[in-house]
Amino acid sequence: MIEKFFDIPFIADLALHEKQIQQNYRPVIAVHKWFARRPGTLFRGLLLAEFVEGNLRETFYKAHNLKGITVADPFMGGGTPLLEANRLGCDIIGYDINPMAYWVVRQEIEDLDLAAYRRTAEMLRNWLNEKIGLFYRTRCVKCNSDAHVKYFLWVKTYRCTECRETFDLFPGYLLAQNRRHPKNVIICSACGELNEVEDRKTAKLCFACGTGLNLAGPAKHNRCTCPNCGKVNLYPDAAQGTPRHRMLAIEYHCPNCKPRHMGRFFKKPDETDLARYKKAAENWAQMDAMYVPGDEIPPGDETDRLLRWGYRRYREMFNERQLLGLELSCRFITRCPDEEIRNALATNLSDLLRYQNMLCRYDTMALKSLDIFSVHGFPVGLIQCESNLLGISDGKGSHVGSGGWLNIIEKYARAKAYCQEPFEIEHKRGRKERLFIKGEWIGKCRKDSVTPEDKKVELFCASSTLCTLPSASVDAVLTDPPYFANVQYAELMDFCYVWLRRIVAETDGIFHKPSTRDADELTGNLTMERGLLHFTNGLAKVFKNMARALKPGAPLIFTYHHNNIGAYIPIAVGILDAGLTCSASIPCPAEMGASIHINGTGSSIIDTVFVCRSTGTVPRRKIVSSPREIAELVREDLEQLQAGNVKLTRGDVRCIVYGHLIRLAIWHLREEWKIKWATTEKLKIVSRELERLGGWHGVEQFLSEDLSQAPRCRALIVREEQVPYGGQLDEVPF
Ligand SMILES: C[S@@+](CC[C@H](N)C(=O)[O-])C[C@H]1O[C@@H](n2cnc3c(N)ncnc32)[C@H](O)[C@@H]1O
Ligand SMILES: [Zn+2]
Ligand SMILES: [Zn+2]
Ligand SMILES: [Zn+2]
Repeated sequence: MIEKFFDIPFIADLALHEKQIQQNYRPVIAVHKWFARRPGTLFRGLLLAEFVEGNLRETFYKAHNLKGITVADPFMGGGTPLLEANRLGCDIIGYDINPMAYWVVRQEIEDLDLAAYRRTAEMLRNWLNEKIGLFYRTRCVKCNSDAHVKYFLWVKTYRCTECRETFDLFPGYLLAQNRRHPKNVIICSACGELNEVEDRKTAKLCFACGTGLNLAGPAKHNRCTCPNCGKVNLYPDAAQGTPRHRMLAIEYHCPNCKPRHMGRFFKKPDETDLARYKKAAENWAQMDAMYVPGDEIPPGDETDRLLRWGYRRYREMFNERQLLGLELSCRFITRCPDEEIRNALATNLSDLLRYQNMLCRYDTMALKSLDIFSVHGFPVGLIQCESNLLGISDGKGSHVGSGGWLNIIEKYARAKAYCQEPFEIEHKRGRKERLFIKGEWIGKCRKDSVTPEDKKVELFCASSTLCTLPSASVDAVLTDPPYFANVQYAELMDFCYVWLRRIVAETDGIFHKPSTRDADELTGNLTMERGLLHFTNGLAKVFKNMARALKPGAPLIFTYHHNNIGAYIPIAVGILDAGLTCSASIPCPAEMGASIHINGTGSSIIDTVFVCRSTGTVPRRKIVSSPREIAELVREDLEQLQAGNVKLTRGDVRCIVYGHLIRLAIWHLREEWKIKWATTEKLKIVSRELERLGGWHGVEQFLSEDLSQAPRCRALIVREEQVPYGGQLDEVPF
């Protein structure tokens, strides 16, 4: 039972490590991008704590076979909980309303002949190299030999509304900082030459034209002064049409100079570079596109930004060279006779899109491309980065740069190899050790083992508000529901979907809709007029369906996290409507590593795992009703997390408090709760109960010390031993 065997410090530590580089711990996620994936180690920990007796620190690194146990996920997304259950041998049932999610999980689970996949993928790269390889070559400025372009950098241009002259929208002229490269690279605002300088603070003159170098550009706060007539132009302006770009720099890789060269290679594009782009654009203009989608971008909470920038169709988010390469890639893929391989490559193409579009930015510090989904939205920058479509090999088995076919193929192959032989990473005295968990595997069937084995996998592309699983048939529901309006899954994933649906071999009929948007999607969305009521009613329906499907006392386990307690109230309503009680609220780090700062403040990285059951026991000492007592429980959580090396921020503490408040509100309301109450009434009742428990402000007062001095939290670790779970008398049945 989770309530007994879960180990917060152990799992928190693992989850924290995993979220720093999730691909190293769970390479399977590289099959295709999905948003906000929670750590796989957390779900493995939860499943083992529930179904395997014993010390989690030991069971975690052993192989298990939980055949006969059925685990369902009504919001499978990228599939993290289901893959963990499948790996442990459970039968799995997954639902997602989004066809992309369904497809991604299917591809993660699907069998793949890895050797055949690699062969075909290599053929694709060779074929592309013949057709368009030259468009990704440049001349090395040092040795004059032929070199590979890593990134083409482009600046947005604008037509002055007064004098009609075109000018660049430079937000700044610093192309590269002196972190990964020995010097700073500054673009001359007059002649465009790239100047390498030691110290970017002291003023310098351009080596080529003698003009003073600036760091700050003219484009700021959506305003840019026309250098020709002085008119202050406002951008974006959709009336100007699709944004236009001018190639301003190239970062390349010269294998010839590399052994003797410090840092990166940058150059201003020369005549040949510009002519090659022109040629690629001409080739593209002469092609009849068979696979490049013509779909219009519908309005939306996230897509409105694209429309404001003048993008009307998805295809306008790519430049001509990208469209040419992507169209050719699609043609090769659709000609693949083997369905399994065709689908794998189609999935790759869909994932490649996020690096092969003109919304990718260039990280001037890390000197790499930031893909379109590096944040959960469509941010439009002024400097864009075009990656080499083919990818560059360093000739020693590694690759140079990111965002090309080579990178995608490599990570996909690694993902599928991990499915065949999954591993954990153990941290021993500061060293990481890869531990293969022999006997476990991810998939539906294993043909190559001595005796072929099958696992039951049922995936549905449907709204789980409509799911009708047989009653008392499921041993656990393990899920990560949408966190109200945190991520607009459908709006974002349509960017890939409009391409993928044209090239997959067979789709189980799930790709017939032109968009992945659905009125029943359980996310707050202003454009689709979905508010808290829609979210509450939908979640309640799903939880009711799940509660019916669960065996008596079996858990519904889910992660949740929001900076606003208002977004937690619907989940309390859902649990109460489903006739469940929350028997534990467990904190665990779950957000991206990028948001982890040692002395960080603000946004929380901590999720609450809610464990809910129709019947069972809860430790008596966890049932409290005063803010002081709640603060005491929160403090225990803080200690446990710190024991797992988590450095907590004020925001984290708040999310942990919310978790307990919601758990306790459910506990105190469960007897008087009436399903027939109107939803607005239910929301008010939970809200009142939260206030009665003191709310955030009530509990906060008793945590002032912990909150005011984040570093002092560490000292609390050794303050007192966690009171262990006691016997019968310490537990309250429900
Ligand atoms: C937070 S994501 C799940 C993430 C996932 N656990 C992972 O690890 O990647 C939530 C998912 O709920 C799905 N969803 C939203 N409304 C739904 C509905 N009515 N029925 C089924 N799935 C829904 C979304 O499409 C999204 O994939
Ligand atoms: Zn060279
Ligand atoms: Zn100059
Ligand atoms: Zn002008």
